[in-house]
Amino acid sequence: MSQIVYVNGDYVAAADAKVSVFDRGFLMADAVYEVTSVIGGKIVDFDGHATRLQRSMRELDMVPPVTMDELLAIHRELITRNNLDEGGIYLQITRGAPTERDFAWPDPEEVPCGIVLFTFSKPLVDSKVMDEGIKVVSLPDERWGRRDIKTTQLLYPSYAKMQAKKQGAQDAWLVEDGFVTEGTANNAYIVKDGTIITRQLSNDILHGITRAAILRFAKEAQMKIEERPFTIAEAQEADEAFVTSATGFCQPVIEIDGAQIGSGVPGNISKRLREIYTAEMTAAAI
Ligand code: PDD
Repeated sequence: MSQIVYVNGDYVAAADAKVSVFDRGFLMADAVYEVTSVIGGKIVDFDGHATRLQRSMRELDMVPPVTMDELLAIHRELITRNNLDEGGIYLQITRGAPTERDFAWPDPEEVPCGIVLFTFSKPLVDSKVMDEGIKVVSLPDERWGRRDIKTTQLLYPSYAKMQAKKQGAQDAWLVEDGFVTEGTANNAYIVKDGTIITRQLSNDILHGITRAAILRFAKEAQMKIEERPFTIAEAQEADEAFVTSATGFCQPVIEIDGAQIGSGVPGNISKRLREIYTAEMTAAAI
């Protein structure tokens, strides 16, 4: 069966999908996106992703090309048409395709936003990586200053991921002014003496939808939480470390810049949070 994608109002075979060369997402990374996970053919935390998408668009003066109800219907239609059981849905909204390349934004009345969605399958619930944990290295955070807006400017995160791989790690933790901001595509946490420590929300990091759920479940389980910045040195002395994202859930980190974290295997708190998150989100998926 060929993959079916959604492009500006149409469901088409991926091989036949087309966007303009003048699309500002393509020319200028003038686009916002969301990645939402799917378990058992159902969407995880659609409301969280739809709310953040609307905020990203508002911050950039983009006019949504569809309502959030229509967006939900598109997600569901793509799941059905692609027979998706476990994996995710990528959604991108661009500032559309004017007739020429110009730094100034086009009038939204004349140039409507473009919208593209596609599905992908990926094991989320049972994953070998989750059982083993990942190694990360630290790199300077050289992204722009509005990381709270989920834009498709992903060259630096992707460059950082490659630097990490060259150093034998799976991911990088980005560091600014001596403190960890987040991972290349996930939020970062450490655990010390039973307290979960993660950077507070601001323009410096993406306001992770998984982060919000994990912190809510941690509170409900009476775990202690401190929202504050931490350094790589503090992380290396921590009992546990982990990252969260829509497509990674809660993923243990077992080594940072060559230093083993705790006993070098996934910690109990990250394992417990992953179990709770998987169970709650599977039950709440729509
Ligand atoms: N990335 N921080 C960054 C920089 C991210 O790119 C992501 C998600 C997160 C976690 O956010 P959430 O829990 O809402 O997925 C944090 C997605 C998965 C991606 O780019 O593929």
